[in-house]
Amino acid sequence: MRSYKVALLPGDGIGPEVVGVAAEILAYLAERAGFALEMKEAPIGGAAYDKYGHPLPEHTLALCKESDAVLLGAVGGPKWDTVQPPSLRPEVGALLPLRKELGLYANLRPARLSSALASASSLKAELVQDGLDILVVRELTGGIYFGQPKGRDADGSRAVDTCVYTRFEIERILRVGFETARGRKRKLCSVDKANVLETSRLWREVADQMAPQYPDVELTHMLVDNCAMQLVRDPRQFDVIVTENMFGDILSDEAAMLTGSLGMLPSASLGDRHTQGGTFGLYEPVHGSAPTIAGKNIANPLATLLSAAMLLRYSLGENEAAEALERAVEKALQDGLRTADIAAAHQPTIGTKEMGQAVRERIEI
Ligand code: NAD
Ligand code: IPM
Ligand code: MN
Repeated sequence: MRSYKVALLPGDGIGPEVVGVAAEILAYLAERAGFALEMKEAPIGGAAYDKYGHPLPEHTLALCKESDAVLLGAVGGPKWDTVQPPSLRPEVGALLPLRKELGLYANLRPARLSSALASASSLKAELVQDGLDILVVRELTGGIYFGQPKGRDADGSRAVDTCVYTRFEIERILRVGFETARGRKRKLCSVDKANVLETSRLWREVADQMAPQYPDVELTHMLVDNCAMQLVRDPRQFDVIVTENMFGDILSDEAAMLTGSLGMLPSASLGDRHTQGGTFGLYEPVHGSAPTIAGKNIANPLATLLSAAMLLRYSLGENEAAEALERAVEKALQDGLRTADIAAAHQPTIGTKEMGQAVRERIEI
């Protein structure tokens, strides 16, 4: 029997609720599709800091390394925003080193609008009603998030972050951009700030040098401020957007809202390590720990369920199960099931667990 190991990192806030729903559905899919799934849970983020004094304990990292894939909820929250030193806070002490240590430089964030949610999009219906399907390819282990020097002068009067990119880092993420565009509408928009930043000028140069290797892909360049505007003016002009770490972070939250809610956007972070079924990866919803709604059974679990579908496809190679899950999510939406974040005014809403149950009932495999 095909058999896989998946690490579950629930984390903080709504993380445990949405990962709980996804773990149950993954187990159900494994049973239905006939493969064995060994799921082991480990602490990360504020929860791990409280228990072990570190947001990314050694044993959590070790479990991830011996797994075929990792499913993460979210980390962070007000309780840990003032932890000293900042390097022990959930975001910079756990999430960033986890991505870096695992070599996950390619972050895929697909923003797809279900026709059932056209009215939940913050854009006018005519801009999105014929569907919206954008893939943001975000560089995840370089740029200003990681560049040195970084820190604060001893007297606290000056702070510094450094944006660094090497040709190697740029080329490997652009390759992911070109390759994924090839499997879609063959349009790649490389987003930068080349009118100001040297890293962006190098980025643009590398993109232009690679373009002849992909004559079937139409490469365009766009400045990031214009891109932020174009995403809300006419989002359908985009197919694949490839960009650096921080621009990708910001643009993908913006793209998420076009699909109705941040609670709908999944992500896959991939590197070069192969598994028996595909590529090792970390899968997480694009949203954070949403502390104000945590523990209330109102968070939307669909971004995490769609992340689980990406996990099945990219890391396990279980395409049938992945498609069955995506179809079940779409069916639940078409049937009018809504968590609060995607409900129209006066539309009845259901909770996190109930949405999980509704998706599970609609799985046909
Ligand atoms: P957030 O994504 O947690 O929340 C933004 C808004 O979206 C809030 O109104 C929240 O209630 C809502 N929301 C988010 N996910 C939702 C869901 N599944 N269903 C319904 N509504 C949802 O962003 P934030 O408020 O800026 O950050 C909160 C904390 O999360 C911070 O500590 C931040 O650092 C952390 N964070 C973690 C990750 C991660 O772990 N990958 C990502 C982003 C933010
Ligand atoms: C995300 C988050 C993280 C990021 C934070 C929490 C470090 O915003 O996954 O989008 O900026 O990468
Ligand atoms: Mn973000």
